[in-house]
Amino acid sequence: MKQSWQILIVDDEANVRRMLTTAFTLDGHRPLCAANGCEALELFHSHQPDVVLMDIRMPVLNGIEALEKMRAVRPGTPVILMTAYAAVETAVEALRFGAFDYVIKPFDLSEVKLVIQRAMQMQDMKQQINQLHQQLSKSYQWGHILTQSPAMMEICRDTAKIALSHASVLISGESGTGKELIARAIHYNSGRSQGPFIKINCAALPESLLESELFGHEKGAFTGAQLQRHGLFERAHGGTLLLDEVGEMPLNLQVKLLRVLQEREFERIGGSQTVRVDIRIIAATNRDIPAMVEAGTFRNDLWYRLNVIHLTLPPLRERLEDISLLANHFLQKFNLENQREIIEIDTSTMALLESHTWPGNIRELSNIIERAVIMSTGMVIFPEDLPPLLQASKPISGKEPDTAGSLKENVKRYEKTLIISALNDNYGNRTRAAMLLGISRRALMYKLQEYNIEQIAEG
Ligand SMILES: Nc1ncnc2c1ncn2[C@@H]1O[C@H](COP(=O)(O)OP(=O)(O)OP(=O)(O)O)[C@@H](O)[C@H]1O
Ligand SMILES: [Mg+2]
Repeated sequence: MKQSWQILIVDDEANVRRMLTTAFTLDGHRPLCAANGCEALELFHSHQPDVVLMDIRMPVLNGIEALEKMRAVRPGTPVILMTAYAAVETAVEALRFGAFDYVIKPFDLSEVKLVIQRAMQMQDMKQQINQLHQQLSKSYQWGHILTQSPAMMEICRDTAKIALSHASVLISGESGTGKELIARAIHYNSGRSQGPFIKINCAALPESLLESELFGHEKGAFTGAQLQRHGLFERAHGGTLLLDEVGEMPLNLQVKLLRVLQEREFERIGGSQTVRVDIRIIAATNRDIPAMVEAGTFRNDLWYRLNVIHLTLPPLRERLEDISLLANHFLQKFNLENQREIIEIDTSTMALLESHTWPGNIRELSNIIERAVIMSTGMVIFPEDLPPLLQASKPISGKEPDTAGSLKENVKRYEKTLIISALNDNYGNRTRAAMLLGISRRALMYKLQEYNIEQIAEG
């Protein structure tokens, strides 16, 4: 909040003007004085003060008339009226014309200061809300997807067109980039929006269970199959089926999926009757499918089939413009959920958020803001409300390398720094740190031992 305000003092009594001018100047503000409503209006036009403190009973143009004229020009400027006790009813009436508040003469200086301070706080809040509105109107919202990144806006526009078609869609992107949100937006903006939206995580089930979840089974198909059961392909009839983490689907099932994609038909496990379904299939993955095709773990023909409409969501670190937009969006959301009224994220906190690499993308940002809302004790989110690892995130480059010692020693030292930094960036999650470093989890565990790296608690 600005600390020095231009205060327009309007009173026909010279000693009141003098007293207030001295007090406000001592507090570091910039008072202006007028002896009646007419003079006040001139100064109001020429100086655009932050706040007006005005007597009601004055010759030439009284406080109420001046208030109305001021509100007609700049209704946003708070006007506080001063009145003798005898005229307090007029002052109350003036609140209806838009006065911010009134004080009764003779007044206590601290009381006047308090009212002005409140008026200025209110101004500040209004300004922030305006800024947020402006930020929001520059951004793009489709379904629940909020963005101001040109790349994401383009994807949203594409999905709006895709929604109207029947085509299968592949959505790639790192974990937490919004793949499921996009899939839902496609479904709810399509002709199938009244039908079911069903999601299955292909990585969560062993092969045989995944197969019976998807295809269903006939009575007696295997031990324990006492009744016929419809699988998700059938249950999604008339709607959309999201195959999450499709990269984890075993090769054997990939062939069967290809047939469903091409023919929209299949047989239940243990059955010979062909079932036809009307579904849209959306597949999502955080894996590099072409590399998997190369390695022989993903079928080439399935990849071709899925690649017809392929959306690739950029990671959060490549859409920096979304960080403050989303952080403020999550701030509002978690304020509501936790009955808090935190008004802003301090600029140094925002700078830390903007320099983080976000391996967990938007989900991670949402978690961090939720935590900050819970941890914060005031009206503003400061760096200390962030997890310690984020507070300490400083780029490792910029440091002059210490080159004393042999090449091997230097390489080892550098390797150790990289491992610690990868662990830090991933909150101690060893699987993700290993992925980031391009080594196996087992190799990482070995190196932790070799370098005697204290285990960083997974967060
Ligand atoms: N652009 C966005 N605007 C608002 N919220 C978003 C946006 N993108 C993602 N989110 C939120 O972030 C979280 C993660 O999104 P989502 O589940 O769609 O990611 P995902 O790519 O499917 O992740 P995973 O690979 O881990 O399954 C969700 O809570 C979602 O609501
Ligand atoms: Mg998901």
